[in-house]
Amino acid sequence: MFQLKLLVFRFWMLCMKVSTFILPFRQPELFTGAGASLELCEAIANDGHDTVLIVTDAMLVELGLIQPMQDKLSALGITSVVFDGVKPDPTIEQIEAGVTRYKAENCQAILAVGGGSSIDAAKIIAARIKNNKPIRKMEGLFRVFWGMAPLYAVPTTAGTGSEVTIAAVVSDPERKKKMSVIDLKLVPQKAALDGALMTGLPAPITAATGMDALTHAVEAYISRNANKKTDAHAIDATKLIFEHLPTAFHDGKNLQAREQMALASYKAGVAFTIAGVGYVHAISHNLGAYYHVPHGLANAIVLPYILDFSKPNCAGRLADLARAVGLQGSNDTELADAFIAKIRAMNADFGIPTVIEKLQKADISQIRKAAQWEALSTYAVPRYLTDSQAEGLIARMLPA
Ligand SMILES: NC(=O)c1ccc[n+]([C@@H]2O[C@H](COP(=O)([O-])OP(=O)(O)OC[C@H]3O[C@@H](n4cnc5c(N)ncnc54)[C@H](O)[C@@H]3O)[C@@H](O)[C@H]2O)c1
Ligand SMILES: [Fe+2]
Repeated sequence: MFQLKLLVFRFWMLCMKVSTFILPFRQPELFTGAGASLELCEAIANDGHDTVLIVTDAMLVELGLIQPMQDKLSALGITSVVFDGVKPDPTIEQIEAGVTRYKAENCQAILAVGGGSSIDAAKIIAARIKNNKPIRKMEGLFRVFWGMAPLYAVPTTAGTGSEVTIAAVVSDPERKKKMSVIDLKLVPQKAALDGALMTGLPAPITAATGMDALTHAVEAYISRNANKKTDAHAIDATKLIFEHLPTAFHDGKNLQAREQMALASYKAGVAFTIAGVGYVHAISHNLGAYYHVPHGLANAIVLPYILDFSKPNCAGRLADLARAVGLQGSNDTELADAFIAKIRAMNADFGIPTVIEKLQKADISQIRKAAQWEALSTYAVPRYLTDSQAEGLIARMLPA
């Protein structure tokens, strides 16, 4: 039965692979380097908008990260309205509050400033403005039929790559689910990578979000839907992360490390938006839905377990990544092992545990079911888990 199911999904993955060559993936017009976020404000003015909704979270307003952009917009004659109701793993309710605010203030465009949570919330607010249907009806592939309100993005974490991806993740607490809305239209028109906004990111969030970016690069590289373009971006991102994440973690004020991590996150986003992710995300989305484990932290913990399992079918690909970051080994298996060991060592250096503290034995079967469905129906992974292998793997992450 499992083999039959696998065959059907393999065929579906083949269709998805073909589609990666046909679909017109777009990237935002990009501003980088010192002052990039203010340059983006000028571009918004040039696009002719009078009133812009800034979608962000309250922490960033408190930290003073939003004010310089508001000042710049105001100097350019643009009214900015701040909606700071986004919380980590944004919910349908928070997004609907943003839609109401956009309409009440007669906004014409959206500027997302924040981590993946703010950018994803902004994406769906922009989609809802043009599509009068419940967010749950946008879940899945290509259901944002009627376009988007103009959308601009400034990431303040170096992790999700949401500023370039065709995805937005929305929490649906009622269904204990993190649902993905996937549509080419979700890519913002313009984005700014401004490392200076990230120098105050606390070390644990730096580590978790950086490991999310690494997971995107690695899962994209070992995906069966990878191609030359995604490979190049995934390798670049992996190299940048190995080189700069430890510095960004230990010396958060280091601007060069922050800028390079912002670039790494973007490149990993380009890779995975086309090639897809895999089991690490399938499991971590459900750990997020069940226990609100931060997305990057969950990925960091799950990644080495999945790589150990996947290795027999992708040792050569993991060996490529190992060579790219300067690791040694006399054959592909040794190199793959060295790569996985290095990820474990990075996690240990960042104080990331090897287990999910909140994971409960009684939930494993449901988490496995949802993760297995997500993986089989969405991701072209190198090696599929059987249901019992999946339960066994998740159980290894139970706290002692
Ligand atoms: N759309 C995509 O392609 C995609 C990809 C991966 C993950 N995601 C989703 O993105 C969300 C996670 O986003 P995230 O990991 O970027 O975290 P986040 O946006 O949830 O932010 C985490 C915390 O960091 C704080 N923060 C953000 N920037 C800061 C800064 N510069 N200084 C100080 N504090 C700052 C925020 O206030 C928040 O408390 C999850 O919902 C995840 O599922 C989306
Ligand atoms: Fe992710």
